Amino acid sequence: MAISLEQIRADFPILQNGAVYLDSGATSLTPTPVVEAVTKYYTDYNANIHRGLYDWSVEATEGYEGAHKTLAAFVNAEHVEEMIFTAGTTSALNVIASMTTANMQPGEEIVTTLLEHHSNFVPWQKAAEAKGLVFKTINVQEDGCLDLEDAKQKITSKTRVVAFTAVSNALGVLTPIKELCALAHENGAIAVVDGAQHIPHFKVDVQDMGCDFYAFSGHKMYGPTGTGGFYARREHLLNMEPVVFGGDMISEVTIQASTWNELPWKFEAGTPHIAGGIGLGVAADYMTSVGLETIEQHEQDMTAYALEVFGTLDGVEVYGPTDPLKRIGVVSFGIGGMHPHDVAELLNRKHIAVRAGHHCAMPLMDHLAIPGTTRASFGIYTSKDDIDALAEAVEYTKSIFTV
Ligand SMILES: Cc1ncc(COP(=O)(O)O)c(C=O)c1O
Repeated sequence: MAISLEQIRADFPILQNGAVYLDSGATSLTPTPVVEAVTKYYTDYNANIHRGLYDWSVEATEGYEGAHKTLAAFVNAEHVEEMIFTAGTTSALNVIASMTTANMQPGEEIVTTLLEHHSNFVPWQKAAEAKGLVFKTINVQEDGCLDLEDAKQKITSKTRVVAFTAVSNALGVLTPIKELCALAHENGAIAVVDGAQHIPHFKVDVQDMGCDFYAFSGHKMYGPTGTGGFYARREHLLNMEPVVFGGDMISEVTIQASTWNELPWKFEAGTPHIAGGIGLGVAADYMTSVGLETIEQHEQDMTAYALEVFGTLDGVEVYGPTDPLKRIGVVSFGIGGMHPHDVAELLNRKHIAVRAGHHCAMPLMDHLAIPGTTRASFGIYTSKDDIDALAEAVEYTKSIFTV
């Protein structure tokens, strides 16, 4: 790392609180510059945006709009108005699903995958139910990697949307983003990418991926909770009707009809999470200052190291591919016949914070025929010492259950 791990860890004072935090896939920790930016909004210029003509409101508006510019550049959007802020990936995907299926006809198809988090599964399933659409899921191979051959079968000329995660939250598996986007387009469909577990680890380039939509959460990329958004190609945003209505998103309202504000505000109804949006911009800048290549390399190193260490633990099964280059940021495992909740409980006795359960990916768990997994997930502050401490605590857990 050009910037040392110690320097990075110093930006996260919460790490001094005594826990080994291995749950960044659920929520990343928040660095001091982000906390300070959020606090500064509330202490220095706590006003609404786009409404006031006084200094505080102007400063809030500039900060919030500036964060959109930062995030648009962060994902390499062609135009700044292609960046819409939402409360996170879940709200982004619900909005995208409502908008993109609005004009679909019965019999047309939505294709998603078995790797999805429920938030990129249920909104499409519900839209399909409501409109008589065909809902298909692309299978995974035995090691949890997406089955591209199955994708080629499932995506047809009747497909209108292909919605898939870039990185699986349950297994850390990487999906072939460009191939799936190309397959969607060859068949006249749009490609919706769930970037929740992707944006924390990679330099995102939506133009290079060729996606139509890319959703993400701020709180998984070192920003505040309740923030995030989506990128959408401008032509879609110009052609689509909003699905959330209210203040700030209108141009003119009469008794007869309403017209919409310019992009991106047409898609941001009501008072947004202003402090959070500003904090999200600072989080993106923070990642940029650490270096996106540095971050990717670090997460890859930690994933490879964890796989190596776990490979030496008897009675522990690691789910997903053994090749570290096919995954990132997550090691999901099971111990003998133990329920993942019991594992997590015992790890917590050793102050190791991990996630256990179905990870909001029940179709995948059904497919793997397991109730869930115990999942360790990594961030830019994760160290080899953290992974060693996890391995030691796994041995302790095994000793309690005499595996
Ligand atoms: C792949 C993936 N998609 C979507 C979500 C939902 O994100 P949020 O809860 O921030 O809306 C998550 C959260 O864990 C996720 O991992």
